[in-house]
Amino acid sequence: MANSALRARPSSQAPNDLRSFWLPFTANRAFKQRPRLIARAKDMHYYTPEGRPILDATAGLWCCNAGHNREPIVSAIQAQAAELDFAPTFQYAHPTAFEAASRLAELAPGDLNQVFFCNSGSEAADTALKIALAYHNVTGQASRQRLIGRERGYHGVGFGGISVGGMVNNRKFFGTLLAGVDHLPATYDREHQAFSRGEPDWGEHKADELERIVALHDASTIAAVIVEPMSGSTGVLAAPKGYLQRLRAICDKYRILLIFDEVITAFGRLGHAFAAERYGVIPDMITFAKGVTSGSVPMAGVIVRDHIHDAFMAGPDHAIEFFHGYTYSAHPLACAAAVATLDVYRDERLFERSKALEPVWADKFHSLRGLPNVLDIRTIGLVGAVDLAAKPDAVGARGFEVMERAFHDEGLMVRNAGDTIAVSPPLIVSEPQIDEIVQKLGNVLKRVA
Ligand SMILES: Cc1ncc(COP(=O)(O)O)c(C=O)c1O
Repeated sequence: MANSALRARPSSQAPNDLRSFWLPFTANRAFKQRPRLIARAKDMHYYTPEGRPILDATAGLWCCNAGHNREPIVSAIQAQAAELDFAPTFQYAHPTAFEAASRLAELAPGDLNQVFFCNSGSEAADTALKIALAYHNVTGQASRQRLIGRERGYHGVGFGGISVGGMVNNRKFFGTLLAGVDHLPATYDREHQAFSRGEPDWGEHKADELERIVALHDASTIAAVIVEPMSGSTGVLAAPKGYLQRLRAICDKYRILLIFDEVITAFGRLGHAFAAERYGVIPDMITFAKGVTSGSVPMAGVIVRDHIHDAFMAGPDHAIEFFHGYTYSAHPLACAAAVATLDVYRDERLFERSKALEPVWADKFHSLRGLPNVLDIRTIGLVGAVDLAAKPDAVGARGFEVMERAFHDEGLMVRNAGDTIAVSPPLIVSEPQIDEIVQKLGNVLKRVA
């Protein structure tokens, strides 16, 4: 569909044809009847093509932890684009890739020192699962092929990720998925956990289900367990107190690898560089994405403990040790963006800021309790969620209406996962802006019957 008028127009103008873009994870027909268009951004705000400000209470999509269009990040990307557009990382490399990897290794806890880059959280999850399987192969434990995920978990949309994931709509349309996968039960139980601030007191024992799975299949068949320290996409479910520590202990007992999917919990969302630190647990691998470049250029990866990486470093020198990678693994623009973003996090002490704001955020966010249809409110780090009662014959309709009205009526961006409203502002959010988020969301909740 050649359209020179479209090509010539400045990027901030509204498009004149909405037909061809099939939006991901979106109610496309509703969107195209009443689009929610974003043309530019700065710091805590998006702006519509007409210039209307939208307060970003979602960091884009859990991405822009440093805020939007930050000058040091923009400049680094521009400079890198002018110097090196692309270099392969299969058999070659460029210096910024090593710099980005070293910076991430420095930030990661314990001996998590080896970084395998990819481009999305989905690729990171699949990469971690493949490293786990291959690790057991190269260490002579090839019978360890089972992968264990968790109900209500989200690990992206690749076949590995949806197999270990536990969100039914992401799975039920796509056939039989990977074989040999089992799931831990979800940790959320409203009856015991409603209106939690931080990690719920109840639910540590849910980790013991791993013992049941081991008893069923035998440890010699299990390669890895993958969980999010806090499940975001499924509606903000924090791990109960003691749960992750107990999971680590059981994995250690049976020599099962433990993978933390930190695609949204890394880079300050829970007050630390990685949520693993918050829990004092060192997993065998951490997946990351999103916040690593504050959303500015796609980048993701897996951080791996030394001994796992080292187990691959065998055989003749000319031989490839791990048959996996992506054309754009460690793309120069992404690496430059990552280094600049990590500088911003460090120089502005944004992880510490997030930690200091957590109690303030929790107090203000929980003030939404008692508004119409609110069944539960959860907060942890700089994250909040409101569960709304579903409309009798239209699950998800109320959550959708809140998201839509927040944008159009209040100039506020929130996310809805069904009837749960999830909020996760950039870590630069000020206290008055937290008040504004809560006020605007409260206004919408009062209006949506
Ligand atoms: C925990 C987790 N893993 C993986 C992903 C997938 O990331 P992507 O959409 O970049 O593939 C997400 C996305 O939100 C996520 O929250």
